[in-house]
Parts: sequence; structure tokens; C-alpha cells
Amino acid sequence: MSAPDANELLRTEGLTLRFGGIAAADGIDFALARGEHLAVIGANGAGKTTFINICTGYIKPSSGRVLFEGLDITRKGPRQIARLGVGRSFQMPQLFLDHTVRQCLELASVSRQGRLSRWTSLSRAADQRAVAEMLELVELAAHADDPTAALPEGRRKLLDVGIALMLEPKLVIMDEPTSGVSSEDKHGVMRTLMRALQQRQVTSWFVEHDVEIVRRYATRVAAWIDGRIAADGAPAQVFADPLVRREVLGER
Ligand SMILES: Nc1ncnc2c1ncn2[C@@H]1O[C@H](COP(=O)(O)OP(=O)(O)O)[C@@H](O)[C@H]1O
Ligand SMILES: [Mg+2]
Repeated sequence: MSAPDANELLRTEGLTLRFGGIAAADGIDFALARGEHLAVIGANGAGKTTFINICTGYIKPSSGRVLFEGLDITRKGPRQIARLGVGRSFQMPQLFLDHTVRQCLELASVSRQGRLSRWTSLSRAADQRAVAEMLELVELAAHADDPTAALPEGRRKLLDVGIALMLEPKLVIMDEPTSGVSSEDKHGVMRTLMRALQQRQVTSWFVEHDVEIVRRYATRVAAWIDGRIAADGAPAQVFADPLVRREVLGER
């Protein structure tokens, strides 16, 4: 076998998963290099989330494999994959709603270090410098003591990515980071997220429907149709593809 490409972060080979008669992933060969900011586009049901779920260990493919930095992670669980350096945020952030923003980041800090002794308080066990830096990075310092239940959707998304970044990942995968965020807030949320990822030199991959946001923040675009990657390349090239224009963007 040839030596793995040091610049390659994640690779999939022949990833396949069927749900009943539907191929949610239909033999996907894909590779992501360090430093890329990949936007994934595609209609609802195209298989964007399924692909993320397989790459982050939430579901297992029926065939094919996933390699992260050359290591086969196909059968590993979500926590193991997170520890190897793959962070993830969700379309619907899974936050502890009875905790404050700060406490959520403290929990992430403690989970990175290992476990919380039952005799130590959360705030003492957490790395407070790392928590303070993250509050600044995702622009939530002014909301540190707000309960997460009170946050508007955009700030929930920022917190969800902040939690992922506390584990010092090499790659963060974000499933629709601007979905549910008001159109006035969307651009600000994305600007903050991408600035945070760039400052930490984290490679990113995000699912996004807004073409303007994709054009602004992605270095590469992959278009999903029916469990396959139908087009993959520079944003201008993918948006000029007739199939993408018709099937993904809905142009006539
Ligand atoms: N757990 C599941 N059980 C059955 N079918 C599923 C499941 N998850 C996804 N699917 C189906 O797989 C296809 C791809 O879904 P999904 O990956 O969620 O698409 P996207 O994120 O692009 O909207 C859809 O047809 C969807 O209905
Ligand atoms: Mg989805």
C-alpha cells in the first residue's frame, strides 16, 4: 500500500447504507484535506446527514470504510471518534437546557480532561482559562451566565460549536449551522463560526442551503443527489454545473 497523504484528514471508500429500498449512501468515495472549508449542498433527503452520521460513528455503514488520519474509524463510536479529533455540531443543538452557557463549556472542559471527581465542583474542575477563551472566541462572553434555554437559535449554534472546539478537534462537521437562525442573524453567526475555526486552524465541513453563505465561506463545494456526490470542486465550478443548477438549486 502507498503511504498515506499527510495532508489528507478524512477519507471514505465505497461507503454504502440502505434504508429499505433507499440508498442513503451509495458507494461514496470522498477525501478531505487539512485546511479545507467544505460546504455540502443538496435537497432534503439527499443523504447529507446520513454521511455525517456514518463519519462520526453514530450509524454504521453496510459496506465501505472511513479513515481519519489514515486510521480506520468505521466501527468506532462517537466518543472515540470525537477524541481522535472530529468535532460535530447538530442541526438541533443538544444542549443542557438547565445549564448556563459557561456551565456547558465547563462540562466540555471536564469531559476533555477525563472525569469529574464527585468531591470537586464543576467550576473548579474545569479549565477556566480555556472556558474564558472559548466564550470570547464564539462571542458569547456577554451571555456566559444566561441559561442555554433562553438563547436565541443563532447563539445556541455558536455554543454548540464552542463545545465541539473545547475538545481541540482537527475537523469540525456542522450540520446546517444556520438552519432555524433568522435571516438577519445568519450571516453574523456564520462569520463568527468561520472566524473561530480559522483562528484555531480547524478544517471544517458544513451543510448549508444558502448559496450566498456557501460562496462566501467555502473553499470547496460538494453537491449531494440521491446518496451520491454529483459534483465536487471549487464553488464557482459546482454552481455552474447544469445538473447542480437543475437538481439542487431548482433552476429551470
Ligand atoms: N434512521 C433512518 N431510518 C430510515 N430512513 C432514514 C433514516 N435516516 C435517514 N433516512 C432516509 O435516508 C435518506 C437520506 O436522509 P438524510 O441523510 O437525513 O438526508 P439529508 O440530510 O440530505 O436531508 C432519506 O430518504 C431519509 O428518509
Ligand atoms: Mg440533514
